[in-house]
Amino acid sequence: MAIVASSVVKEYKRREKKFRAVDDVSIEVPKGKITVVMGHSGSGKSTLIGILSGMIRPEAGVVSIDGKDIQDKSNRQRDKIRAATIGMIPQSQSLIGGLTVYENIKLQSAFSKAGTDSDGKALDDMIGDLGLSEVRNMLPHRLSGGEMKRAAIARALSGNHDYIFADEPTGELDSENSDRVVNAFRKKADEGKGILIITHDSLVAEKADILYHMENGTLSK
Ligand SMILES: Nc1ncnc2c1ncn2[C@@H]1O[C@H](COP(=O)(O)OP(=O)(O)OP(=O)(O)O)[C@@H](O)[C@H]1O
Ligand SMILES: [Mg+2]
Repeated sequence: MAIVASSVVKEYKRREKKFRAVDDVSIEVPKGKITVVMGHSGSGKSTLIGILSGMIRPEAGVVSIDGKDIQDKSNRQRDKIRAATIGMIPQSQSLIGGLTVYENIKLQSAFSKAGTDSDGKALDDMIGDLGLSEVRNMLPHRLSGGEMKRAAIARALSGNHDYIFADEPTGELDSENSDRVVNAFRKKADEGKGILIITHDSLVAEKADILYHMENGTLSK
């Protein structure tokens, strides 16, 4: 079981000229493993995660989730499939401002189409593992960038999704917190979830089961 992209292409325009942000890329994100994509800024990583999660429709190529093609589905159907299948950790800040860290996390599990695999204790353990116990009742605007990021990670991990997609999860983190995050991902991979991490961080890349490099829209192992 895996999320698979085959020969996907996504074009954008820059100064009236078309270029391929993702250029004929094939990648597989299997369950039970940590897949990492490394690459320079602008190499197409976030675009690729958008394609794999069905948020961005490629001009060419095919994306399938556990053997089911998502290409012909409507946007609404794709949104539904994503909500049920993938816990997303976006690159930018994504917490809801009026809710505390804990409420943000609980809200995700309450609305998760996949349900929640965390009882109260498992949730508390995860919050502790990610070093968020002290800020759990604080509003996002009082958190540091790294705390916000870890809260968004806790939120994504609290849903019972088969896959977790993380775009730069350790971008704002020191090595201790980066380790915490990677360990939390490893725990999920050992439980059988498929993890995709986009990163610049070579310490994260070292922990990959499968490592890809992205450059100018193309992917290599
Ligand atoms: N909606 C868009 N319209 C036009 N160009 C875009 C769009 N989204 C991304 N691009 C361009 O496509 C290229 C790839 O962008 P992308 O966000 O995928 O890079 P990235 O590898 O995630 O970079 P970073 O590491 O900085 O997050 C960049 O040159 C970017 O400017
Ligand atoms: Mg990006």
